[in-house]
Amino acid sequence: MKGGVAYGIDFGTSNSSIAVAFADGSTHVIGTENRAPALRSLVYLNRDGNRLTGEDSVRAYLTTATAQTACSRCSLVDHTRYGTYTTCVQHRSGGSCRDSRLLAQVKRDLSSDHLDRTNSWTRDYRFTELVAVILKRLKKTADRSTGQDIRRVAIGRPVRFPGVEADPLRLQALAEERLREAAGIAGFSHVQLVPEPQAAVTVEGISDGLVVCTDFGGGTFDVAVLSKKNNRGTVLALGGAVIGGESFDSRLFDLKVRPALGVDGQAGAAKQLGVPGWLRAGLNSLTGCQQLLRDERVGPVLRDLSAHGGRGVAEALRELLYGGQAWACHQAVEQAKIRLSTERQARITLRRLPHLDLDILVQRSEFEQSIRSELSKVEACIHETLARAGVDPDQIAYVTRTGGSSRIPAFEAMLHSTFGASRVVDRDAFTTVVTGLARFAYAEWASSRPV
Ligand SMILES: Nc1ncnc2c1ncn2[C@@H]1O[C@H](COP(=O)(O)OP(=O)(O)OP(=O)(O)O)[C@@H](O)[C@H]1O
Ligand SMILES: [Mg+2]
Repeated sequence: MKGGVAYGIDFGTSNSSIAVAFADGSTHVIGTENRAPALRSLVYLNRDGNRLTGEDSVRAYLTTATAQTACSRCSLVDHTRYGTYTTCVQHRSGGSCRDSRLLAQVKRDLSSDHLDRTNSWTRDYRFTELVAVILKRLKKTADRSTGQDIRRVAIGRPVRFPGVEADPLRLQALAEERLREAAGIAGFSHVQLVPEPQAAVTVEGISDGLVVCTDFGGGTFDVAVLSKKNNRGTVLALGGAVIGGESFDSRLFDLKVRPALGVDGQAGAAKQLGVPGWLRAGLNSLTGCQQLLRDERVGPVLRDLSAHGGRGVAEALRELLYGGQAWACHQAVEQAKIRLSTERQARITLRRLPHLDLDILVQRSEFEQSIRSELSKVEACIHETLARAGVDPDQIAYVTRTGGSSRIPAFEAMLHSTFGASRVVDRDAFTTVVTGLARFAYAEWASSRPV
């Protein structure tokens, strides 16, 4: 019988995917967006209660990003002759707020020590609920495909969640507990968490011997050193670093877009007036831009700039933040970065005339230079993990690379120089981990009774 036994879910910082393990031991990656394997790990929230993920969230956000409600007309505020009453923490006299939010990097929030929720429109959204929006959508799509309600799942986890540096053991445990809770909210009753690089090795096609698996994604770099025998891998050591494609997008933004916007002072006015560091720093990620949108200090800074000869800079920033162009801008940066993996140069283009007109040429060499120190840390992480496993690079039979950021030529070159090009094997960037997780789920539950 080819009934589904369990699912594997790769819940990624940028992309998430699901695969089913069937009773006959086969696995299948289920198409989630127009049959593509990966769903973008984004969550859209609207004040009307609507919650979306994947491309739907982007589409919804593009049409509602600039819509806002003035506090004076907001249904969440009671205006009486004795005063104004509301439980909205964003309420300000004469203020307003956006009707929607697009949240990226919800995986990162799982390890947040001081916060477990975000608040909008008088509602608290717990991080576990937000992650559950993504997991629920994956489960629903997969259940529709299998015609079953499958409640067993193996979910990948990074060796080190982003944000755990301050107290690694405790915060890693906290993030894992929250991930399990989110899976419960999404309808799973049996949950196993599996280190992502370990999942990446369960895929066939590698002969016995010592194997290094690298998974370089949007949020983290993960590595496993395994001893493989009779198609089973024994983990000798795991390692991880909080370095990934999303930080590379920020580096590229800082390198090329920020100067072009004039906020670094090339245009003169911004420097003389001193665009505050917090504003400059916030621009380089979508999450940072969302925070700036909610930051009351931004308006006065832009007004000051306009009044003191920095009108062009202020208008460009207004268009970027309040004109709803932050998403398009960060997409343009990411796309250019991806093109640089195959081309020697690429352009970051965003034309929203008259205020925003970016058409910037970037060379692969300058991009790779800007991420050099991060790649050195990744290299150090590999060596440190090998050392903990007690093996030398020349004892390694194979090195596999998977994850979107593993396509960066400088990373590939580093693996080649450490291990020799002939030992580096490519694995599909986006389906290797999820396939391994489904195989793990099969091994775990194939012989147990259905739930
Ligand atoms: N060809 C490419 N060259 C460079 N980077 C790429 C390429 N394709 C995708 N990326 C980047 O890879 C990242 C997404 O990779 P992936 O889907 O493996 O990450 P993830 O699983 O969501 O994240 P993580 O595992 O770190 O939580 C994004 O930052 C994306 O920009
Ligand atoms: Mg991943």
